[in-house]
Formats: sequence, structure tokens, C-alpha cells
Amino acid sequence: MLEVSGLTTRYGEISALRDASLHVGSGEVVGLIGPNGAGKTTLLNSLAGLLEPSEGTVTFDGEDVTGSSPERLLRMGLALVPEHRRIFADLSVEENLKIGGITVPAARRQPLLDEMAEQFPVLRDKWTTSAGYLSGGEAQQLAIARALMSEPRLLMMDEPSLGLAPVMVDVVFELIASLRDRGRTMLVVEQNATRMLDMADRAYVVRSGAIVAEGTGAELRDDERLFDTFLGN
Ligand SMILES: Nc1ncnc2c1ncn2[C@@H]1O[C@H](COP(=O)(O)OP(=O)(O)OP(=O)(O)O)[C@@H](O)[C@H]1O
Ligand SMILES: [Mg+2]
Repeated sequence: MLEVSGLTTRYGEISALRDASLHVGSGEVVGLIGPNGAGKTTLLNSLAGLLEPSEGTVTFDGEDVTGSSPERLLRMGLALVPEHRRIFADLSVEENLKIGGITVPAARRQPLLDEMAEQFPVLRDKWTTSAGYLSGGEAQQLAIARALMSEPRLLMMDEPSLGLAPVMVDVVFELIASLRDRGRTMLVVEQNATRMLDMADRAYVVRSGAIVAEGTGAELRDDERLFDTFLGN
């Protein structure tokens, strides 16, 4: 579904991502793990069209989408739940969701809103509340639901559990597991490497702007040197 080859993205002179290659197959859940500043966000933002790679290619469903706009990518079915959620604090839960559905045909929007209300009871209960009043965990669920409103075929998430209370981290991981069990294709950046490896079919380890390892959870976990050096604990 997604093929990334030799992707390099720079901030001015600095290459924050160098020669990254990866793939995500239909129905797969793929993790991206690695320390702070490794380039994980740079990679996802490059795939979502928020940053323009200087080298390499991105192919989505067989089509070269390198350098495409975020809107085009969203229309093609590639959605990002961004780092720090980026929900609209002054808008209600419903309004945030409607913005997420902006690229789908008008007739699809209400059925999708109904689906989100059913799938996310905490959001249904705060439907008309300004998103700024949501707890961190609720806001993260809103950010994920907003992305689902675009009916993505590939859902990318950047640190969905970051900054949440432990009980909310559990909620977010359960949500990712339920999306996985329904066959959603996902590419997920997570600091919580151990839990991500349990969840994912495969993962890539990113370090200093490069992909340094790839494998199943079991393979990466068994590589003690890798685990100690790159992931800590
Ligand atoms: N807008 C920017 N301008 C210049 N350098 C940047 C910018 N954004 C990120 N960087 C640098 O690029 C590198 C990769 O950053 P990135 O945010 O992609 O890492 P990350 O793996 O997502 O880290 P974290 O776990 O902290 O979210 C870091 O060295 C960072 O300082
Ligand atoms: Mg990041």
C-alpha cells in the first residue's frame, strides 16, 4: 500500500531524515520507534505532505505521490493524527469532526459522524463542548476520530499516547488494538516501544535520521544490543 524509498528531508542545511526506506502492506500495523529527535515526526510529516522531501519517492497504492499536498493525500486516503493532536480548541467536538470529513462526499459525512459517536462514547457525551475543555485522553480520541472522518485507507499516528495519564495511555492502546482488529492499516510512531512492539505486526527503529533496524516485535525485542542502545529500559 505504501512504499517509501530513499526519503531525505532537510530543515535548511540539516538532514533530519536520511535515505529512509520502508513499506506498509494492506491491513498491516507498523510501528516507528526510536529516541527523541530521531526523525520520526519528520518522516510522518513528509509522508503526509506537511514537509517536502528533497530526495526519494513515496508511492501510495501504486501512484507516485512524492511532494503531493496534504489535501491531495487526504483525498487519496492517507490521514495523519499529528503530534500534539492539533485539535481546534475553540470548536466543538462535532465541528472538529466535521472538519475531518471535509474531503469526503457530503452524503457520507452524517453517517460518519454517527459512526464516530457510536465508536467514541466519550465524544458523544461532549458532542457540543468546546474541544479545549476535553481532557488529554478525550482530546486524543477526538484527534483520532477526526482523522477517521476522512475514511483513510492508511492511518498514521504520531505519538498518540504522549503526555497522557497512564489510564488514558491504556485507553489509546486499546483503541489502536480495536482499529487493528477491524483491519485498519496503520503506521504509528510511539515512544512506548515495548507496548508498540506488542501491538504491531512489524516495526522500524529510527535513530539519528536513519532507519537502523526493521523486524517483528519478537525479532527487535530479541536483539538486546539494539533494545538497550536505541530504546532504553
Ligand atoms: N522545524 C525544524 N527546524 C529545524 N530542525 C528541526 C525542526 N523540526 C525538527 N528538527 C530537528 O530534526 C530532528 C528530528 O526531529 P523530529 O521531530 O522529526 O524527531 P522525533 O523523532 O519526532 O522526536 P520526538 O520523539 O522528540 O518527537 C531533530 O534533531 C530536531 O531538532
Ligand atoms: Mg516527534
